[in-house]
Amino acid sequence: MDVLTKPAVTSSATDTFPINGTDHLELYVGNAKQSAMYYQAALGFELVAYCGPETKVFDRVSYVLQQNKVRIVLTSSLLPDTEISKHVALHGDGVKVLALWVDDAEKAYYTALERGAQSAFAPKTLHDDHGSVVVAAIHTYGETIHTFVERSAYSGAFMPGFIPRTNAYPSKSVGFQYVDHCVGNVELGAMNKWVKFYQDVMGFKLLITFDDNDISTEYTALMSKVVSNGNGYIKFPINEPAKGLKRSQIDEYLDFYKGAGVQHIAVATNDIMATIAQMRANGVDFLYVPETYYEDVLERVGTIDESIEDLRSMNILVDRDEDGYLLQIFTKPIQDRPTVFFEVIQRKGAKSFGKGNFKALFEAIEREQELRGTL
Ligand code: FE2
Repeated sequence: MDVLTKPAVTSSATDTFPINGTDHLELYVGNAKQSAMYYQAALGFELVAYCGPETKVFDRVSYVLQQNKVRIVLTSSLLPDTEISKHVALHGDGVKVLALWVDDAEKAYYTALERGAQSAFAPKTLHDDHGSVVVAAIHTYGETIHTFVERSAYSGAFMPGFIPRTNAYPSKSVGFQYVDHCVGNVELGAMNKWVKFYQDVMGFKLLITFDDNDISTEYTALMSKVVSNGNGYIKFPINEPAKGLKRSQIDEYLDFYKGAGVQHIAVATNDIMATIAQMRANGVDFLYVPETYYEDVLERVGTIDESIEDLRSMNILVDRDEDGYLLQIFTKPIQDRPTVFFEVIQRKGAKSFGKGNFKALFEAIEREQELRGTL
């Protein structure tokens, strides 16, 4: 059964087509079976569906993991020369698909193409005993694609071709609720091109801009613009490196990922203290923010419900926009290459992002870069 609940607000006047939310994120990984265990044991996901040789798919395996509305698909190739195995050889484990849940996949696809998108695959309708799903896809930055998923006529575990699957591992949710935003790192000079892509093709609006004065450390800098759809359920920040004295962490990502791609997946929780306590107990590593961060934090963000001591002990960041505040924390990369990582975010009124945490995050990554010798 589809666990996603359709939002009350589905679109706005500027949307090219309505997007209800994130359908799923698919990562191409070297060993999906073992990755699936990490997502269960460390991140609290539950295994819900599977495809592979047992379902007559002979070139790949996919494990579908779910936690409330967050759905992750982990896919590995069973053969040496497939698109998947080549993707993994080049990029390491990484996000291939940012799938968007729409009412009419065919219409979304052809509208996007008319507005300048490049096709990844044409619309197709997949059937099984539980109904049908329509999918179609367009390219975005790097080798990443957006699949449009129309699933109103489907009641199966995930999609036709997948079977329901659980395993013996006693998964315990850490409280992830939904995908808040997904961030892309793109090459120097490419940020505005991709912002324009989301504006022109999808009708997204520019939510906020951070320039290199906002996000710079002593040595490096970057620029970032955030685009969002009308209902705010889809937010895509796009980062590009800016010139600094040393190598920007965006450059480090691009070097290791071998091109543009997804830098982090941010998931929302309703109780960040409980979520992070559980994730730490599960062995997840987080970026370290120094004690000094907390010295002037209340001056920056004003009154908050949480005690600074609790935030400090958990190493959780806090920031503010004009609507309210938000609490954030960032994991270390979740694979050996310093590329993709997770963010956990709890919004307390804030709809956008603040500058202070951006800087703290980038300083924290820079300390890790130094340890890797890539600064
Ligand atoms: Fe983020």
